[in-house]
Parts: sequence; C-alpha cells; structure tokens
Amino acid sequence: MDELRDIYWAEKHLVKALPKMEKAATSDELATALADHLAVTQEQVTRLEQVFEMLGEKPRGKKCEGMEGLVKEGESVVEDTEDGSATRDAGLIISAQKVEHYEIAAYGGLAQLAKTLGKNEVADILGEILEEEKEADEILTNIAEASINQSASAEVK
Ligand SMILES: [Fe+2]
Ligand SMILES: [Fe+2]
Repeated sequence: MDELRDIYWAEKHLVKALPKMEKAATSDELATALADHLAVTQEQVTRLEQVFEMLGEKPRGKKCEGMEGLVKEGESVVEDTEDGSATRDAGLIISAQKVEHYEIAAYGGLAQLAKTLGKNEVADILGEILEEEKEADEILTNIAEASINQSASAEVK
C-alpha cells in the first residue's frame, strides 16, 4: 500500500510537470510525445484510483521524494540550456527517460506483488500501466536516435 501511494503521488506530480516539459521542448516531435504521455498519465491516475478501490482503500498519495527529485532535475535541464536548442531536447529526453525507468521499476515490482497476493485484477491493471511506461521509454529513445542527439552534438562548441 505504501508503494502504491508513492506511485500515485508520483503520477499526480507528473500531471503537473509534463506540460512544463512540453512547453520547454524545442522540437514538435518531443513536445507531441510529452503531450501524448500526459494523456496516458492522466488515465493512469484514474486506473490507480480503481486499484485503491479494488483493495478497499481510499486513494491517498504519499510524497515520492524520488519523483520530486527527478522532476527537479528536469527543471534544471531547462534552466541550463538555451531556448530553441536541440541540446535542451537531448537533456529533456534523458530526464523523461529517468522518470519512465523509475515508473517501470515501481510498476514491475507492484504488479509482481499483486500477483503473489492473488490480486489478479489489480496485477492486470498494474501490468498494463507497466507496458505503457515501457512504450513511452522506447518512443523517447527513438526520438533521440532519429535526429535530436545528432543535432545536439552539432551544437557543441
Ligand atoms: Fe505513469
Ligand atoms: Fe510514464
């Protein structure tokens, strides 16, 4: 339950952070990917609320220091890079992927625990969310590899 409250807080924190990252992004491709993942994240918040209900608990968040730190790192990428640069996007992608990897670890562990506890419906929902996070991670990798990292390297003076 403690871990569930942690990731619930983290997802709600991301709902606030993703629009700022989207606005700061240079390329349309990255901005669109972040906007798409915001919609997915909002949906995940709703599904986590269903999970709480299924477990007979009220949805309650517990401050996630990890996610707070990762979001802060993303903010410093924006502060430390120029508006309109590919370098900013390369940094934002790394930040966003750190977030996805945190989520992958959380949902992987939670889905497995739910399964062990015989909470199969809960495990299914958490497993679905896990797949969405993996997909988001892959999309970010593809965007970085397709052009952004190349453009960012050209900006190195
Ligand atoms: Fe998420
Ligand atoms: Fe995510």
